[in-house]
Amino acid sequence: MNIKIIILIIGFFLCNGSEAQFHFLVFGGKTGWIGKKIVKILNDQGYVVTPTQVRLEQREAVERVVSKVKPDCIINTAGITGRPNVDWCEEHKPETIRANLIGALNLADVAFQQNIHFINMGTGCIYTYDADHPKGSGIGFTEEDPPNFRGSFYSHTKCMLDDLLMSYPNVLNLRLRMPISDDFYPRSFAIKITHYQKVVNIPNSMSVLSDLLPLISEMAKRRLTGNYNFVNPGAISHNEILDLYKKYIDSEFVYQNFTIEEQNKILKAARSNCELDASKLLKAFPQIPHIKKSIVGVFERMKEFKEKAVLAKAQ
Ligand SMILES: NC(=O)c1ccc[n+]([C@@H]2O[C@H](COP(=O)([O-])OP(=O)(O)OC[C@H]3O[C@@H](n4cnc5c(N)ncnc54)[C@H](OP(=O)(O)O)[C@@H]3O)[C@@H](O)[C@H]2O)c1
Repeated sequence: MNIKIIILIIGFFLCNGSEAQFHFLVFGGKTGWIGKKIVKILNDQGYVVTPTQVRLEQREAVERVVSKVKPDCIINTAGITGRPNVDWCEEHKPETIRANLIGALNLADVAFQQNIHFINMGTGCIYTYDADHPKGSGIGFTEEDPPNFRGSFYSHTKCMLDDLLMSYPNVLNLRLRMPISDDFYPRSFAIKITHYQKVVNIPNSMSVLSDLLPLISEMAKRRLTGNYNFVNPGAISHNEILDLYKKYIDSEFVYQNFTIEEQNKILKAARSNCELDASKLLKAFPQIPHIKKSIVGVFERMKEFKEKAVLAKAQ
């Protein structure tokens, strides 16, 4: 083969194998649930990834790590979600502001000043069903709709962040909702609600992490910006999920429902229930399955995982 052709072929593969050159810096990537998942996926996809535990609100430390790593893209998965749940934020407002607002904006601002693409893992828990988007109608909130849910302090900070981030031209804000993983992790929505004594039964938009997180690298390479509802299309109710849990995981599982009014009596803050419109995301990634299809695959994989664990224990 002619030497020029060989050089051309090598050059082609070097350019297209650019994953190895593309560098992500992931805040929250060392200890966070979603951050660790993103780091693993990016590593598996062949990218260079640096996870960091640097505090978001410490400007000089953030500037130092960004200047040292020189990433092509910064991903923020860090933030306060509260333990055991977002009610914690009601009594820790300064801490919540420091991480979720001051911290996240600080990071976005450093990324802007250094002309680096910034992806923020945001939340869709900034909406609640209303007259224009009634429950069960299939009319979801689009990225153009202003947030209408500030019933918890957590959501209040996230509404402000969602709005202010859009002043930065380098920002992609991915609005997750009720994330579901393919395992038995207690904070995965499909597992979390099995531990509740009683559950409300309301259709909601949800994010199946195994469908969505692998898309982040492509979004970074396309340098997408703006708000994206980062959810599977459609909505699914609590009872539909619990019925699948009963079918696939534990046939003896039982659950009880209660109303939102009864739920509000045991919570410090209200919770968001809504459907988000996934059209904008689907336009970029048409392959994302409907939530009702995707959730069956999640439970099938969980069942397989459980059976393997039982087998391994028996051996
Ligand atoms: N889980 C959900 O249901 C859900 C739903 C929608 C959106 N989200 C959003 O997705 C993001 C990640 O959620 P997650 O469930 O992965 O949370 P998580 O498991 O609680 O992890 C939070 C991460 O944030 C880091 N962190 C907290 N405060 C920080 C600060 N001031 N500076 C730097 N790092 C800080 C923690 O690091 P340390 O261990 O070092 O403190 C940890 O790595 C959050 O912003 C959350 O609002 C989550």
